Order: sequence, then structure tokens, then C-alpha cells
Amino acid sequence: MADSKNVPSYTVPSLSNEDGAKVAAILQERLNALTDLHLTLKHVHWNVVGPHFIAVHEMLDPQVDAVRLMADDVAERIATLGGEPLGTPGALVAQRTWDDYHLGRATTIEHLGALDEVYRGVISDHRAAADTTAELDDVTNDLLIGNLRELEQFHWFVRAHLETAGGELSTSGERSELGAARAAREGEHQG
Ligand SMILES: [Fe+2]
Repeated sequence: MADSKNVPSYTVPSLSNEDGAKVAAILQERLNALTDLHLTLKHVHWNVVGPHFIAVHEMLDPQVDAVRLMADDVAERIATLGGEPLGTPGALVAQRTWDDYHLGRATTIEHLGALDEVYRGVISDHRAAADTTAELDDVTNDLLIGNLRELEQFHWFVRAHLETAGGELSTSGERSELGAARAAREGEHQG
């Protein structure tokens, strides 16, 4: 397992093996989050119904593809650091600290509300990981910052559906997927 207790016998030049292990452990958490995210986005792609179906269905596939590439880059960075990227479903479920996505078949606006919450969580944790790696490894920091540039744009694509002309988000203040889905549905009826 690629955690900080499992120090590799080599890492990239100019990093200590201990720091290589620390960075790899941080990246394993980001790999778990990105794998979960691209699987969840595909699940939503399959399960959205109702008005604006085709727009949301088609919006999500480029996000799936981009997040899969991010996961690949993160996993290969773990290996480059001398670590062992874990990519099986069992490892993901055993290691993750969050629940499965909560919605099955649901309307576009409900999924978009829930995805606002999903992206908020992934991006917040990615930011924290980028901050930590800024001290340890500039190259990993640059990788995570590059991920964030795209993730934040995709988050905006989602949020643009939830925003009023006055710039308010219908999901504002919600901190659960189901709560955000409900708020998005109610916001649509008010709008
Ligand atoms: Fe498809």
C-alpha cells in the first residue's frame, strides 16, 4: 500500500525517499477522488432524465474523458515517485472517506445540484493537496494545479445551470448531495 509508512527504495532525484512516500500517499487520495469522480460523471450521464436531457448528457462525456486523463497522470506520478498506485475498485472503496453518489435516475436539475456538491468536495480536497505538495514537490504541485484549472471550469459549467441572472446559486449553503439536489429543484421552480 502506498502510504507514508511504506517508503520506496528510490524516488525522483533531489527528493528524499520519505518525502517521495508522503507525496505518493497524498496522490493516492487524489487518485481515489478522480476515479470516483469520472465513474460518477458517467453514472449521471446514464441517469439524467427530463428537460435539457441531451445538453447535460452530452456535456458530461468530455468531463469523464478529461478526469480519466487526470487520474492517469496522477497514478503515473505515484509510480514515478517510486510508489504503487492502487486503481482497483476494491482499493478505492476501502480507502475513500466519502459515500457513494446518492442519486440514481433523476432530473437534470437535481443531478446538477448534486454535482455542484461533488465538485465542491473534490476541488476543496485537491486545493488542500496542492497546498501541501507546494512544500514537498513542485512537480506534483504543478500537476495538481493543472487538474484544478480544468476541474474548476467543469464546476462552473455545472453551476451555470444553477445560477440566477443576479448571480445567486440555488444550491448556496447546501452541504449534501441530496440537499443540493432538492435546492436546485426548488430554485428551478422559483426561477
Ligand atoms: Fe454515452
